[in-house]
Amino acid sequence: MDDQVDHSRRRLLTAATVGTGAIGVAFAAVPFLASWNPSARALALGAPVEVDASKIEPGQMIKVAWRGQPVYVVRRTQDVIDHLGNHNGMLADPNSENSLQPEYIKASGAARARNPEYWVGLGVCTHLGCAPSSAFERRGEFQLAGVDLGADWPGGFYCPCHGSKYDASGRVFKGMPAPKNLTIPSYVIGANMHIMIGVDDASQNA
Ligand code: FES
Repeated sequence: MDDQVDHSRRRLLTAATVGTGAIGVAFAAVPFLASWNPSARALALGAPVEVDASKIEPGQMIKVAWRGQPVYVVRRTQDVIDHLGNHNGMLADPNSENSLQPEYIKASGAARARNPEYWVGLGVCTHLGCAPSSAFERRGEFQLAGVDLGADWPGGFYCPCHGSKYDASGRVFKGMPAPKNLTIPSYVIGANMHIMIGVDDASQNA
């Protein structure tokens, strides 16, 4: 595992225009497209992207670009984590049988993550590809983009294009336009919660 991660880091360092640790921070503070140019060339080549997830506050999310697609990295609150398995009946594919993710993610169950605290997934709605918005607070009189998500909202994502809802693991609700859960890329978690997106090491467990 270490060899693979180290190799990926070397490649990242070679791509002089990519400050990988800074990407996630920059995307958290500025509009997504504003940060596109510096990394677009490397990402188009499929280079892994490293995110320092230790800087994400509980309940917050950052966006990074990988292979020309937005990737969301979410630090879930303990409250949301504790209730992930309680709303399977609301979901179209609670066990991710018909969705795209590495096998080790599927095996992680409702968390769909190597580490339940940190969720990584593509910010691409499986209906027609819009970028879902996030609303990670659970329950309450919660509204997002003028839409009432309901008192039983478990925290998650809402697609503003045609209204698809996903939970905080990217699992789509029943009756939505989106046919599948949000896709999860391969990734590994290194020291100090540095997440390397686009690197697969099936031997690493959460
Ligand atoms: S693109 Fe998300 S619901 Fe249509």
